[in-house]
Amino acid sequence: MKIKLILCLIVVVRGNPTNSSCKEIHLNNKPHKKHVLGMGLNRPYQLAYDHNEHKVFFSYNIGNDTEDTFQIGYIKKDHIKHENVPDVVNGFAIAVDNKDNIIYFGGSEGIYKQHLKPNSTVEKILSNHNIWDMFFKHHLYFIDYPSQHLYKCIHGKSGIETEHQKHIHEKIYQYVIDGDDDTFITNETGLYLIKNGTTHRIFYGEPTVFRAIEVNNKGVAYFSAKDGIYVADKTSNKLEIVVHIKNIFGITFDKDDNIIYSSPYEIIKILPERCK
Ligand SMILES: *[C@@H]1O[C@H](CO)[C@@H](O)[C@H](O)[C@H]1NC(C)=O
Ligand SMILES: *[C@@H]1O[C@H](CO)[C@@H](O)[C@H](O)[C@H]1NC(C)=O
Ligand SMILES: *[C@@H]1O[C@H](CO)[C@@H](O)[C@H](O)[C@H]1NC(C)=O
Ligand SMILES: *[C@@H]1O[C@H](CO)[C@@H](O)[C@H](O)[C@H]1NC(C)=O
Ligand SMILES: *[C@@H]1O[C@H](CO)[C@@H](O)[C@H](O)[C@H]1NC(C)=O
Repeated sequence: MKIKLILCLIVVVRGNPTNSSCKEIHLNNKPHKKHVLGMGLNRPYQLAYDHNEHKVFFSYNIGNDTEDTFQIGYIKKDHIKHENVPDVVNGFAIAVDNKDNIIYFGGSEGIYKQHLKPNSTVEKILSNHNIWDMFFKHHLYFIDYPSQHLYKCIHGKSGIETEHQKHIHEKIYQYVIDGDDDTFITNETGLYLIKNGTTHRIFYGEPTVFRAIEVNNKGVAYFSAKDGIYVADKTSNKLEIVVHIKNIFGITFDKDDNIIYSSPYEIIKILPERCK
C-alpha cells in the first residue's frame, strides 16, 4: 500500500514539475496559459480595457445576500489590488472608446464619462435613465432598464441627447455592431444577427444565454455563454466554440486581442503559452 501511494505522488509531481497552479487551456486548439490579473472580487462583470494605460475596468457586486449593488472598479497594469471609480451610483455598465480615450460608465442614475489619462475626473453626462448595458462604435449606445429599449447618444445643442432606436423593436438584453457593420442582438429567446442594410433577424440557435458579448480590435464579436466563449460563423449562421471555460462573467481584449475574462472571483488573461 505504501509503495503504491509513493508511486502516485511521483506521477503527480512529474506531471507538473515546476508550478502546480499552472493550468493549460486550449483556445482555437492551441495551448494557452491563464494569468491572474485580479482576485477577491464578487462577480466582476462588464470588462473593458484601456489601451492607453493598460487598465482593466469592470463592475462588481458590493451588495448583500438579498440585494445586488454594483460598483465600478479597475486594476492598473501589474497591480493585483483594485481601485474604485468614484461617483457612479450603482455603476454596472461600461463601454470604452479607445480612439478618443474616453470611458463611459452606466448606473442606475445615468451615464458618466472619464478621459483615459491620469487624474481625470468622472463627469455625469446623462440623467433620467437606468442603464442596463452599453456599447460603443462611433457613438455610444445604451439599453435602458426596465424598458430594455435601445438608445443612441448624440451631441445636441445642450449636451448629450438620446435617440430611441426604433428599428430595434425587440426588448433586448445586448447589442453590438461588428466590423462588417452587422448587428447582433439578444433577447429572452436568444441571439439574432441583423445584416447591414437589412431588417431580417437571423436566429443563431444554441446557446441562447450570454453574460457578455464583446467585439475585439479586428471587429470580431465574441459571445460568452455557460460553457465557454463562441464566435459567429456567418456562412452557416451558427456559433462555434473557441474555448471551453465555465462560469464566465465578462470578457474583453487587450491591445493585441488576447482574451481577458472574469470568473466569479477573478480576472484572468489567457496568453498563447505553455506550462513549463
Ligand atoms: C505559478 O503560476 C502562476 C500562474 O501563471 C503564477 O501566478 C505564479 O506566480 C507561479 N508560481 C511559481 C512558484 O512559479
Ligand atoms: C441589503 O442592502 C439593501 C440596500 O443597501 C438594504 O436596503 C437591505 O436592508 C440590506 N439587507 C440586509 C439583510 O442587510
Ligand atoms: C496625479 O495626481 C498625483 C497625486 O495627486 C500627482 O502626484 C501626479 O503628479 C498627478 N499626475 C498628473 C499627470 O497630473
Ligand atoms: C426576440 O426577438 C425575435 C426577433 O425579433 C422575436 O421573434 C422573438 O419573439 C423575441 N422574443 C421575445 C421573448 O420577445
Ligand atoms: C449599414 O452600413 C451603412 C454604411 O456603412 C451605415 O450607414 C448604416 O448605419 C449601417 N446600418 C447598420 C444597421 O449598422
